[in-house]
Amino acid sequence: MDQIDELILRETPDQASAIAVIDAPGLVERALEIAADVRVWCDDVRDAELVDEDLLVEHPEDLAGVDLAWGHLPKSLAALDQQAASIQGAQDVTFITGGRVKHMSKSMNEVLGKHFTAVNATRGHKKSRALRAWGPANLPTDWPKARHNEVLDLTIVAHGSTFSGTKLDAGTRLLLDNLAVDGPRVLDFGSGNGVIAAFLARLGLEVEARDVSWSAVAATLETAKANDVDVHATWVAGIDDYADAALDAIVTNPPFHQGTTKDSTDTLDMFRAARRVLRPGGQLWCVYNSHLPYRRFLNEHVGPTRVVAQDRAYTVVVSENQGS
Ligand SMILES: C[S@@+](CC[C@H](N)C(=O)[O-])C[C@H]1O[C@@H](n2cnc3c(N)ncnc32)[C@H](O)[C@@H]1O
Repeated sequence: MDQIDELILRETPDQASAIAVIDAPGLVERALEIAADVRVWCDDVRDAELVDEDLLVEHPEDLAGVDLAWGHLPKSLAALDQQAASIQGAQDVTFITGGRVKHMSKSMNEVLGKHFTAVNATRGHKKSRALRAWGPANLPTDWPKARHNEVLDLTIVAHGSTFSGTKLDAGTRLLLDNLAVDGPRVLDFGSGNGVIAAFLARLGLEVEARDVSWSAVAATLETAKANDVDVHATWVAGIDDYADAALDAIVTNPPFHQGTTKDSTDTLDMFRAARRVLRPGGQLWCVYNSHLPYRRFLNEHVGPTRVVAQDRAYTVVVSENQGS
């Protein structure tokens, strides 16, 4: 349990018959002491791996009908909206969700106010605070959302936590405008809404996609379906489980955050693993914020790396694997 978990428990009613635990694996044990029906949903596969498989639900909508829900506040308002919509269904439900004060905004109360008749904020404790919402409005969920992107002529589908939602990220657009990939077997690493994967699949390539986020993997599959292309998407972190020389290319707009913290660790780990996982001569295509020192790292860890395109914000590079 962390400080946010402790704060949530302080605010919790003594009794509940069904509890939803959202993105908060540290609270599962306590939930099992209170209720016979405990349902856990985690967006990040690394959180899900901390929880007994039997307690995990497959889809956020499987949380519907609980009378108490605990959560860690997500980064995006859209993610909070989907969580609040998913736990509706019972005659009454109380949702207690906490986070670090510096990551909280008034808009979070407004999002909860759409789904509940009452919302208040607890007093701060050790730089954390919880929001408590009750009185479900029972609005039907409108997740996932879809939008047609005219530039690419692709429909993009997103869940609440999906990076960039149904929009085409500006860095991703620069990458796709300049991409020339040799296949057939290509991985979209960190697939988000699946726009890169769908774009590659439309070119006739064999496309695999992976992401740590459930919302991303679900969105990737739904984007592929909406565009009538085949993509094999996996909910997993990193690429360490691939066999040597398995892939002809990796295409990525890689992560630069872990939750609310700026962090390139996952990206650098993936770059390090790429030399083994790509066949000799295979390519890693990557777009990143131009201030990041990735080019030198890619030169050193994958192979010769050249800049393919650059604008004021982003750089697109391709690295050729020289083998070990
Ligand atoms: C910058 S977003 C790009 C999303 C999408 N490809 C696009 O271009 O819009 C990076 C994605 O990487 C995912 N991610 C973060 N860490 C990861 C890891 N260790 N393994 C796989 N995916 C990861 C994030 O969930 C996020 O969806």
